[in-house]
Amino acid sequence: MPISAHPSIVVLTGAGISAESGLATFRDQGGLWEGHSIEDVATPEGFARNPDLVNDFYNQRRREAKLARPNSAHNALAALENAWDGDFLLVTQNVDELHEKAGSKRVLHMHGRLNSALCYECGSHQHWEDDLDQGCFCQSCTRASLRPDIVWFGEMPYDMDAIGTALGGADLFISIGTSGTVYPAAGFVAEAAHHGARTVEINLESTHNPLFSDCRQGSASAMVPAFVRELLEAHR
Ligand code: APR
Repeated sequence: MPISAHPSIVVLTGAGISAESGLATFRDQGGLWEGHSIEDVATPEGFARNPDLVNDFYNQRRREAKLARPNSAHNALAALENAWDGDFLLVTQNVDELHEKAGSKRVLHMHGRLNSALCYECGSHQHWEDDLDQGCFCQSCTRASLRPDIVWFGEMPYDMDAIGTALGGADLFISIGTSGTVYPAAGFVAEAAHHGARTVEINLESTHNPLFSDCRQGSASAMVPAFVRELLEAHR
């Protein structure tokens, strides 16, 4: 653990942390990219070609996410944020609200959120809990121009400046439940390591990324609470 009395922590989560809450991951067996084509449902071109197909894909995921409950890994991260006396930032690639449901406050959704809609005419974001279709109207410009507020391939993730600043000052970077295959998130460990942070990976299968100085292989619901206990003990 670094010298500073109040070390700064940056956590990155991926679909694996929500798997034990019943939400599908993308690249595991039976994952979302087995049954759907990224080009069709996760690109602006796919939405332009067939908006109904894309809206249906995210409507189904929104319904599932609404019913999902946080698991012990989400709860442990909320407890860590609450107990930590240094800076703490949780960056998630996930578009579900399980971190918020667990009580996490400082959460950045770099790939967007299922419970938000984006107007592709005026750019406004609005809270959205129900199914989205082409007949839905933007509350700001009143045009029927809403799309899922999801960052698709080829689009710029949200909050990258804040994330870059946090990584530059992190003493500890923890990556949980992500295959580390999609940039820019996949490059966060290199950024943190470059600035001297301790780097920890918690994942069902190791990604074998040598930039992680500490790899904990196992399910998030078991490994994250244990790691949080260890961290709080050591930092007492
Ligand atoms: N506990 C911990 N890790 C798990 C668990 C679990 N119970 N179940 C699966 N995992 C791990 C898998 O081993 C895998 O490495 O979670 C990872 C999930 O990887 P992906 O399915 O690729 O999901 P993710 O890394 O979040 O994908 C990143 O890709 O398609 C885009 O926008 C999408 O945000 C997503 C991004």
